[in-house]
Amino acid sequence: MSIYTHKFLVVIAILTMTSDLSIEYSFPDGFMFGASTAAYQIEGAWNEDGKGESIWDRLVHSRPESVADGSNGDIACDSYHKYKEDVALIKGLNAKFYRFSISWTRIAPTGEMHKLNPKGIEYYNRLINEVLANNIEPMVTMYHWDLPQYLQDLGGWTNSIMANYFEEYAKVLFSNFGDRVKWWITINEPMQTCRGYSMQMYAPYLKLDKTGYYLAGHTQLLAHSKAYHLYNEMFRDKQKGKISISINANMYLSKNGSSKIDQDAAERANQFELGWFAHPIFKGDYPPVMRQWVDRKNKEIGRAWSTLPKFTEEEIKLIHGSADFFALNHYTSWHASHGKDLNPYCNSDAEYIGSFDDETWMGSILFWLKVVPEGLHKLLVWIKNEYNNPPLIITENGFVDDGRINDLDRIHYIKTYLNATLQAIHEDKCNIIGYIYWTLLDNFEWLDGYGYHFGIVSVDFNDSKRPRTPKASYHFFKSVIDTKKLDGQ
Ligand code: NOJ
Repeated sequence: MSIYTHKFLVVIAILTMTSDLSIEYSFPDGFMFGASTAAYQIEGAWNEDGKGESIWDRLVHSRPESVADGSNGDIACDSYHKYKEDVALIKGLNAKFYRFSISWTRIAPTGEMHKLNPKGIEYYNRLINEVLANNIEPMVTMYHWDLPQYLQDLGGWTNSIMANYFEEYAKVLFSNFGDRVKWWITINEPMQTCRGYSMQMYAPYLKLDKTGYYLAGHTQLLAHSKAYHLYNEMFRDKQKGKISISINANMYLSKNGSSKIDQDAAERANQFELGWFAHPIFKGDYPPVMRQWVDRKNKEIGRAWSTLPKFTEEEIKLIHGSADFFALNHYTSWHASHGKDLNPYCNSDAEYIGSFDDETWMGSILFWLKVVPEGLHKLLVWIKNEYNNPPLIITENGFVDDGRINDLDRIHYIKTYLNATLQAIHEDKCNIIGYIYWTLLDNFEWLDGYGYHFGIVSVDFNDSKRPRTPKASYHFFKSVIDTKKLDGQ
């Protein structure tokens, strides 16, 4: 990028910072900023240096038509070779965190922990060391959706033995990297993993309806808690890190003036999505409304058992309290009202109809992503009240567009969502300690392929060198990090 283009983007970024805000708050001292990526979306090198086949490798190679543009992550951003450039970009932001994920099949090609791949371990050692050498803290996601195909052949997350496999995997990660990694995310967005089992939204691309959906969630909760307790028992004293699980949540809002029945539907939607994973961890067991409604639905069709599995008393205790902070991934909000929705995104067991306020909510090129910062504000307050104000890091939040460098809509999104975060901190005393943008680089957006960009840095996928170019939003985000304010003063 020429010096003139760079200056132009900085000016644009600063100009756009001064509009849209009512009251000006600052981020508290010690507030942590960062940016995020995930292994399959950026690394490429899908079969290099002994890496095994994951469920994403299998899906994109065997059914290329399942991805919008027929593309795949074989090369992606080539971060396996260009990781130093990625780290330099994080450093250029003056960010505290780089959140990235580890590819299970680089560490253990089949997922079996007695058959490790030393070259995979060496790669993550190099990456972690590079991050630390630049005074950045690694936040490592252990599982961001790329399950070893061999484990999928055993049933994947619908088989409860996956919790044992995950615990063994976590042990290898703590043993090899825990001396330097102090922030761990066990699993990224467990609800989305489940959608890969129920509605073909991701690999393994199955249609196992609610049975597969709830079962995959159940196993992930058990896997997460096993990793957490393993850390407590064997590593915490020495390594002194923090562990959580990144739970994704839309905010379901009831429309102004809506009836009690519709308000209950919105609350139920929140409990069936965010509460599904947060309630067992922060309060104990599944949300009562979820247990009641799913059990009733099963009875109604004459089934003698519930598709929502039950934890034993011991499991409830093990899962309860298994997070050192609340890790929230949030992008957007919906309206919810009572009724039966055919839209597969809305869980029919919970009987809510999801909709968008097309008149006032700004949209994006993805139908599900609307710009609703007040939804984030309400969600943060909801979490505070529901779970006793835990320390919370927003581990993902981001906006999608067509990849333009002068990405003013993304700046607007980041600014208004950070403004909502500031309001929650200052006006509602929510204990929010960090914000990590999704994502550092434009990358492989799963079944949407390469046409949908969330990055603050552009990558030229037509050039084999995959050159990176920071966008206007990169400069904007940097000035927020530098000044701790949204108006750049
Ligand atoms: C959440 C996921 O964690 C990430 O992998 C994905 O790219 C973003 N949402 C955007 O869809």
